[in-house]
Amino acid sequence: PKTIKQLLEPGSSSAAALTSITGHVRSIRRQKRCTFALIEDGSTSKGLQAVFKHGVRGEGTSTAMVEKLRQLTFGAGVIVSGRLVESTGPGQDVELVVEGLDGVEVVGRCDPDTYPLQPHHSGASSSSSGKHSAEYLREHLHLRLRTPGIQHTMRLRAKVKEALEGYLTGEQEFVYVHTPVITGIDAEGGGESFRVGKGEEGEEFFGRPAHLTVSSQLHLEAFQAALGRVYTLAPCFRAERSMTGRHLAEFWMLECEWGGESPSCDLHGLCTFVEDMLRYTIARFLHSGLSVSPPDADNELHRAAFSQKPWPRITYIEAIHILQQAQPLFTYPPTLGHSLQSEHEKYLAEVHFKSPVFVMDYPRGVKPFYMRVNPRTDMETVACFDLLVPRVGELVGGSVREERYGVLRSSMVDAGLIPSPPETEIIDSSSPHSPKKPLNPYEWYLDLRRHGSVPHGGFGMGFERLILWLGVGIANIRESVGMPRWKGWMGM
Ligand code: 4AD
Ligand code: MG
Repeated sequence: PKTIKQLLEPGSSSAAALTSITGHVRSIRRQKRCTFALIEDGSTSKGLQAVFKHGVRGEGTSTAMVEKLRQLTFGAGVIVSGRLVESTGPGQDVELVVEGLDGVEVVGRCDPDTYPLQPHHSGASSSSSGKHSAEYLREHLHLRLRTPGIQHTMRLRAKVKEALEGYLTGEQEFVYVHTPVITGIDAEGGGESFRVGKGEEGEEFFGRPAHLTVSSQLHLEAFQAALGRVYTLAPCFRAERSMTGRHLAEFWMLECEWGGESPSCDLHGLCTFVEDMLRYTIARFLHSGLSVSPPDADNELHRAAFSQKPWPRITYIEAIHILQQAQPLFTYPPTLGHSLQSEHEKYLAEVHFKSPVFVMDYPRGVKPFYMRVNPRTDMETVACFDLLVPRVGELVGGSVREERYGVLRSSMVDAGLIPSPPETEIIDSSSPHSPKKPLNPYEWYLDLRRHGSVPHGGFGMGFERLILWLGVGIANIRESVGMPRWKGWMGM
């Protein structure tokens, strides 16, 4: 048996041959002599119309046939056999004509009264479209996957992942590495990590405190020191307490880390790499047939992908000056030394530059400990960037990493991650028979600098944020992933 997609490929089957498909009924229209059902098997976004010629009901149709017609409801799982013929109706080139009802087998019934996705179900919004609201569908995540919007997003995710990985593993020769999900550290120091563990002593993992990773970066740096150019695409977990449309508690992050020249790992080199990678990815997306956005949004993405001018790069201080000129617009006044608020980020990309924009060199105090400290000017800053894009705000964050042992150590002491007197014994020499000595979970990261540190840098991009940007019509990040995890989740 072929998928609908394979069946619809030109020259895939002769008109006379009997073919069969397995799928779900996506819509149904009943007429006197015929029933039309749109069958979908997930291989295409359109499905295939099946036409059942059953004769006038009540006039010569058997009870068996009447029963089968009754079972043929929206959502039912079916195997349909028929012949592919040119369609006379609008909307499709071919349809599957089924003679009698022998060609239909209802393999999985779907009760119209209880199926939550029925168009007339009480969860449908009162609008005439009969569509279910996003909130309603989030209560039925397992079935939501069968709706066309989410199906499209799943295809988009798969295509975008393929494009990004193709870019990285192609000429750039990055190596995909698998970083751990369970860690002893809170990589971003934001206090947003979820603890893991089992047992009465509290949340511990084999006798040591453990967290779900908030970012793979620190481990990725250890892989970088061994393999040169590495990336990972991995789930990250953050106990985000706010219910914004841009934050999830579980999200996927693409993280890259490399050292040396071409691609250069200085601050401008990092920005150039990210811009090239995203231009490539957007172009692939625009040519994939998955772009269904309104033309103006398409133009915005089109410009981002193909404009001759590089995306603007400004410093944090320049950003604050621009924002202060527009101050009456904001709830939070832009203040030197403070982080940018999401309203500020959106203003810069969407209103001021109307383009993706890199903001570089943030104050040391608002960024994590691992970023390389810039030579001192008026303000102490770090060699980092955030990429801000229209409609989404922050899409990527990255930095040159602090490779100097002494500077890194004092940043870590300032952040309260390690005690100030150097620890003399850092090797965990415990055997299974002796009690474990306490081991500072951040010492291994310092070790990377003790033993042959080289300059390197990297970035992390929220995969769902990228889907929000490319997927244009997706209003909330909870619709950018199949099974979102966020504060309001239903526990499934
Ligand atoms: O800016 P962040 O926190 O940076 C890091 O974690 C670095 N360690 C990355 C690195 O340099 N390797 O997160 C990076 C990106 C953000 O720009 C955003 O796109 C996304 O991850 N992100 C989230 N996406 C969805 N939900 C959340 N709660 C997110 N938090 C961050
Ligand atoms: Mg960030």
